[in-house]
Amino acid sequence: MDYPTYRPRRLRRNERIRELVRETTLSPKNFIYPIFVGPGKNRAQPVSSMPGVSQLSVDRAVAECDEVNALGIPAVILFGIPDHKDPLGTEAYADTGFVQQAIRAVKEKIPELLVITDVCLCEYTDHGHCGVVKNGDVDNDSTLELLVKEALSHAHAGADIIAPSDMMDGRVGAIRKALDQNGFEQTAIMAYAAKYASGFYGPFREAAESTPQFGDRRSYQMDSANADEALREVELDIREGADIVMVKPAMAYLDIVYRVKTKFGYPVAAYNVSGEYSMIKAAGQKGWIDEQRIMLEVLVAIKRAGADMILSYFAKDVARLFMGK
Ligand code: PBG
Repeated sequence: MDYPTYRPRRLRRNERIRELVRETTLSPKNFIYPIFVGPGKNRAQPVSSMPGVSQLSVDRAVAECDEVNALGIPAVILFGIPDHKDPLGTEAYADTGFVQQAIRAVKEKIPELLVITDVCLCEYTDHGHCGVVKNGDVDNDSTLELLVKEALSHAHAGADIIAPSDMMDGRVGAIRKALDQNGFEQTAIMAYAAKYASGFYGPFREAAESTPQFGDRRSYQMDSANADEALREVELDIREGADIVMVKPAMAYLDIVYRVKTKFGYPVAAYNVSGEYSMIKAAGQKGWIDEQRIMLEVLVAIKRAGADMILSYFAKDVARLFMGK
């Protein structure tokens, strides 16, 4: 149909009619809120590069989970910052670790809140890499054993979903097998399947104190120039037992989100990472952009591209907006 018979503006005349034909809607139900759990008691240490985000002690993390749950957000993802770091990241798989403590405490207080745990070693190793370093690089297969231990300790503590973010080859299969052998066949895996080596993780590394002490993560995280490779990564993770596949970062990788959703038809998560959050917060604080408007525009774009769920530091802001708070 051509103009003047078809006039697209007819359906844009007012908000009611726009709502009627809106193709993509955001809901707090599709968000996952990241929480950084660290040492101490009643402690909240603000992350300077992420306004509104703090590193929390276990008790404060539980209080944060209460708030998240009350806002109608169904899930949190926990990141741990240990007291003590060493070459093998032993705190990552200690039953007394802050994440393990937080899982138990949250599951006891708010059993309905879904607890997802990030499985990686970079926050726990003194060198800041995501695995065991041998000859100046991260050794894949010896790292798998530690990741399996970490995943099992999270599952034992009561985690609902395990999210490996290390980008080692074969980790989803190794974790799935270990979970099944230990009676955790109902524990789901959300794989950071297409995770790119990205400058957008900068503020997170301040929050998690996980900047690599030498080199970078390019020998295990993906090259941002590659898209076909992302499909191979996702396919591998699905074959190894991933229930949900993630693309990370989100904003600069919407083509990947779209292609993954279209090709596999699997539940797709997109991680709206720290740098994406901080850029919007910073420009908003300067008065250069309308923070709330840009936030919603970016998040709806991520969903429109094909993400079923979004991990975002904006989750509480979005939920508050929906509740009119
Ligand atoms: C751990 C991990 C990182 C993020 C999530 N899990 C950092 C990294 O890979 O350097 C980044 C999240 C964010 O930037 O918000 N490997």
